[in-house]
Amino acid sequence: MMPRELPLRAVAARVILAVEQGESLNQCLPVEAHTLEPDLRPQLQALCYGTCRWFHRLDDELTSRLRKPLRKQDRIVHHLMLVALFQLRFSENPSYAVLNETVEACKALGKTPLAGLVNGLLRAAEREGAPAPTSDEARYSHPGWMIEKLRHNWPEHWQGILGANNAQAPMTLRINRMHGSRDEYLDRLREAGIPGRATEFADLGIQLDRPVPVDLLPGFAHGHVSVQDEAAQLCTQWLKPGPEQRILDACAAPGGKTCAILEAIDNQGEVLAIDESADRLPRIQENLERLQLSARLIEADAADVDQWWDGQPFDAILLDVPCSATGVIRRHPDIKLLRRETDITPLATIQIGLLSALWQTLRPGGRLVYATCSVFPQENSRIIRRFLGQQTDARLLDEPVAWGMDTGHGRQLLPNPESHDGFFYACLKKGGPEERQ
Ligand SMILES: C[S@@+](CC[C@H](N)C(=O)[O-])C[C@H]1O[C@@H](n2cnc3c(N)ncnc32)[C@H](O)[C@@H]1O
Repeated sequence: MMPRELPLRAVAARVILAVEQGESLNQCLPVEAHTLEPDLRPQLQALCYGTCRWFHRLDDELTSRLRKPLRKQDRIVHHLMLVALFQLRFSENPSYAVLNETVEACKALGKTPLAGLVNGLLRAAEREGAPAPTSDEARYSHPGWMIEKLRHNWPEHWQGILGANNAQAPMTLRINRMHGSRDEYLDRLREAGIPGRATEFADLGIQLDRPVPVDLLPGFAHGHVSVQDEAAQLCTQWLKPGPEQRILDACAAPGGKTCAILEAIDNQGEVLAIDESADRLPRIQENLERLQLSARLIEADAADVDQWWDGQPFDAILLDVPCSATGVIRRHPDIKLLRRETDITPLATIQIGLLSALWQTLRPGGRLVYATCSVFPQENSRIIRRFLGQQTDARLLDEPVAWGMDTGHGRQLLPNPESHDGFFYACLKKGGPEERQ
């Protein structure tokens, strides 16, 4: 029988095991964190994110140190040692504490017979230091298929992308222009002792020098500011939402972009936000309420237009499709463990399906912004190219913007360790009768 309260490292090992079995950190971390005292929860988060970020490198070292793999039923001890190696290699924790507490955690997990092995292995790891990586997987700490795909897709940028994915992402804010200007909010931050600077490309963005809990942000509870990466904030630049428009946000949860759109039009337009996930839809409502914004929410498969559309065309559509999320790995390092190469083609099928289905709901002359947080052309420029090949009334707009690279079929932002996430945007305009002549 397992004791009821496990120590920090044992809980971290359970989280990594759950991720290996297919759960995301967003799903399993809050559940496991609840078993710990509140003051230990930030440490749990740091351990789990760090271990996922460096999983492939740590696993390479651990595997080479183990004479043979542990039995399947002892897999949790493998993960416990990964957590300890993460601390030895990437944290300031004194190694004696890491060793002692990991051995205690091993016993608390009911694996006392393996405590000697854990102790010996970690002692050797401490004494000998980090070994040279034996593979690209270990060197770049990414799954091999992802490294190969990036190398193939981005021959000049793949190492930069891998490096950016392993860096800690900055905390970036979007100020709510309905409550004052960015300069005014920068002043409020300064007064609160929270240093930050205006983002380069997003008009309303502020990148903080260091992350802070949101409760410390001036006016957060009253909707004066939101947390949103700079690249995600760019969605309004091409959508150009207007206060008189009927706007659709087709894959909306948790609503970051829905709220950015509503703020841009002073909460005046008619915005419909759809998401197929019943679990995620309430997150949109929470965000709307905090920001005092309003939109109509529908739980539906956006591609199943007959199910939700009243036949009134939209002036503007944001289609932020489900994707591999390979542009936001630095924020979600569990993607390295969760994503499979075989996921990409089915995702591309869903993406083009959503785009084709929603196109009929756009009025002639209206614009649709297609967005992903992926860095794979298969989900980005190739979707747009395919779509333009089959849809004669669709035209690609490439209005001048200072950000991203022109792919010929939309603009790609690669993750930048100094600033924004990886993202892709393409803006499509529907030809009106005058444009078809
Ligand atoms: C990239 S996330 C959207 C992020 C959101 N736009 C934001 O900025 O906060 C993609 C969303 O699409 C939803 N989704 C996936 N397939 C869908 C479909 N067929 N119809 C509607 N929503 C879908 C997922 O539940 C997920 O919430």
